[in-house]
Amino acid sequence: MNQPVMAGIAPVNPPAFVQHRKLIDWVAEIAALTTPDRIVWCDGSQEEYDRLCAQMVAAGTMKKLNPAKRPNSYLAQSDPSDVARVEDRTFICSEKQEDAGPTNHWMPPTEMRATLNGLFAGCMRGRTMYVVPFSMGPLGSPIAHIGVELSDSPYVAVNMRIMTRMGKAVFDVLGADGDFVPCVHSVGAPLEAGQKDVPWPCNATKYIVHYPETREIWSFGSGYGGNALLGKKCFALRIASTMGRDQGWLAEHMLILGVESPQGDKRYVAAAFPSACGKTNFAMLIPPQSLAGWKVTTIGDDIAWIKPDADGRLVAINPEAGYFGVAPGTNARTNANCMASLAENVIFTNVALTDDGDVWWEGMSKEPPAHLIDWQGKDWTPQIAAETGRKAAHPNARFTVAATQNPVLDPAWDDPRGVPISAFIFGGRRSTTVPLVTEARDWVEGVYMAATMGSETTAAAAGQQGVVRRDPFAMLPFIGYNMSDYIAHWLSIGQRLAQSGATPPKIFCVNWFRTDADGKFIWPGFGDNMRVLKWMLDRIAGCGGGEENVFGVTPRHADLPWDGLDFVPALYDQITAIDRAAWEAELKLHDELFDKLGQRLPVEMLAVKRALEGRLQS
Ligand code: GTP
Ligand code: SPV
Ligand code: MN
Repeated sequence: MNQPVMAGIAPVNPPAFVQHRKLIDWVAEIAALTTPDRIVWCDGSQEEYDRLCAQMVAAGTMKKLNPAKRPNSYLAQSDPSDVARVEDRTFICSEKQEDAGPTNHWMPPTEMRATLNGLFAGCMRGRTMYVVPFSMGPLGSPIAHIGVELSDSPYVAVNMRIMTRMGKAVFDVLGADGDFVPCVHSVGAPLEAGQKDVPWPCNATKYIVHYPETREIWSFGSGYGGNALLGKKCFALRIASTMGRDQGWLAEHMLILGVESPQGDKRYVAAAFPSACGKTNFAMLIPPQSLAGWKVTTIGDDIAWIKPDADGRLVAINPEAGYFGVAPGTNARTNANCMASLAENVIFTNVALTDDGDVWWEGMSKEPPAHLIDWQGKDWTPQIAAETGRKAAHPNARFTVAATQNPVLDPAWDDPRGVPISAFIFGGRRSTTVPLVTEARDWVEGVYMAATMGSETTAAAAGQQGVVRRDPFAMLPFIGYNMSDYIAHWLSIGQRLAQSGATPPKIFCVNWFRTDADGKFIWPGFGDNMRVLKWMLDRIAGCGGGEENVFGVTPRHADLPWDGLDFVPALYDQITAIDRAAWEAELKLHDELFDKLGQRLPVEMLAVKRALEGRLQS
C-alpha cells in the first residue's frame, strides 16, 4: 500500500499484512502530530527482538549480560528520576468528574487533549515510532482484547513482546475493522539534528492519561514499567475496569494460581495484594516439605480478567504473557521457581551488575558480592553500602520474563476459556493490627473487607514509603472509574451469582507482614503461606475448623497444619491477636475512607460497619 509522503513526515508504509484502514489512518495521524523520523511496524519476531536489543546495547540503554551466566539477557539502567509508576501524574479523564470519582486525578477531556496536543507536537522528532500490536489474553479468545501502542521507545517494544502476545498475528485477528484500544506513548525527549541521545531518555513532565469513554491511553515523559508498557495497568486495569463495569465483568489487580491436593483435587484462587506485596511470590509458591503432596501452579501473577460463564460461574484469564516482577528480595530459598524462570531470556531493569557480567540485588544472596556496579552505574561495595546506605539495586528494580519460562506454569494458563475461581483473597502489607487470615461470612462482608483494606506504601510507586493508606481491592491506583461504583459493581456481581444458583467464591483477607518489636517479620511467609492456603481450601471443602470473631471466621492454632515448622501458639497469638484499641483506630480510618467515597458508596458497606462496631463493643 502506498502512502503519499508529506513534507517532513515519515511515510507510514504499512506492511501488506496490515489491512485495517482505521488503524493505518490513526498511525498517520499520530505520526503527523509527533513527527518521528521513521515508523517501524513490529512483527513480534525473534529477529526483530534481537535487532532492537542490539540497537539498545549500541545506544547504551542496555548491557548484554555474560551469556555463560545469563544467556540472551540484558540489563537496562533507567534515569534515576524514572524508576516507578507516578500516581500523582495519572489521570482518568471521563467527561464528568464524578465518574472518575474522589480517588482519581481528573481533568476535563477537552482541557487534557489541548495540553497533550501541545506536549506531543513534534515529541518523536529524531526518533523511531514503533507500532506495537498486542493482545491482552489468548489470541482470539472471547475474553481477550486487542491494543496497539505507538511508542518512540525500543525498550517498550521489546518489553511488550515479553509481556503480551505481540506481533503480526494480532493484525490477523484485527482484520479490516476489528476493535482495538489506541495507546500513544512517548518518552518526551525529541532529538535535534546531530544531538546525541542519552541512554534513558525521559522528561521531567509526565502524564499518564486515560479517556475511559473513548477507551484511549496517552502516556508522556516516562519509559518505566506501568507508565510505559500500556497494556498492563493502563489498559488491562484502568480501561478494562470500565469495560467490565459496562459489560458485567471484573478486571482486577490479582494473581491467579492453581492448587492441587495430594488426592488430585484441583482448584483455582485469585488474590489481590497491592504493588510489591507478594503476588508474584504467592503465584509461584513452593509448599513446604511437610505439605509436599500439594502442588501450586501459576495462571498469572498480576492481573486477572474475570467473567461469569454460561453456568454463572466466575472464570478468569491472565491477560498478560509475561511477568514484570520485583527483583529485590527474590532468591532461591524463598522463590526457587522465580529464580529458575530468570535463568535466561530476561530483561533486568535497575538491578546491579556483577564483575563477571551477571546481576545481583538485595536479598538475592546473604553475602553480597565484594564489588558491583550499582543501578546508577556507580561502584558499589558492602562497605560503601554500610557507610552511605546506598542500595545496589533500586528497591523497585524489576525483571521482564516470559510466562513460559516459569517451571510451574499451569497447563491452562493459555486456555481461552479461562479457569473457574473458588476463592478471592485480599491482603495488604500491615506491620500491626490485621491478623494472618480471616474468612468473610458472606459476599457482602468480603466486599467490605476488600473495600476497607489498608496497606503500607511500597517502592512500586513514586512517593513516600511505608505509609498506611486505604487501598480498596488493591485497586486504588488502577481503578478507571468511581471507586464507590466499583464497590457497587462487586456487590452486583455477588447478587448475580446468588441468582444464578452458582456457589459464590469464598472471600478471605490475609496479612503476611506483621512485625515484632525489632521490626522483623513474625510469619515466615513465602512457601509457608501454603499452610494458610490449605486452611482456605479446607474451608471451601467444608472441613476446616475455625471460630467466629469480630470480623469473620479465623483459624485457631490447632486448625492450621504445623508439621515441619516450629511456630508456637504464643507466636501465633502475635500475628492473630485483635487489639481492640488498634481496631477502634482502624475503624476511624474506614470512616475517613467512606467520607471520601461519599454519596455513591453502597449503603451495604455502612450496615456491615455498624455490625462490626457492635461486635467490637461487646
Ligand atoms: P507488583 O509486581 O508490584 O504488583 O508486586 P507483587 O505483589 O507481585 O509482589 P512480589 O511478589 O514481587 O513481592 C514484593 C516483595 O515482597 C518482594 O521483595 C518479596 O520478596 C516480598 N514478599 C513476597 N511474599 C512475601 C511473604 O510472604 N513474606 C514476606 N515477608 N515478604 C514477602
Ligand atoms: C505494580 O506497580 O503493581 C506493578 C509494576 O505491577 S508496574 O508495571 O510498574 O505497574
Ligand atoms: Mn502489580
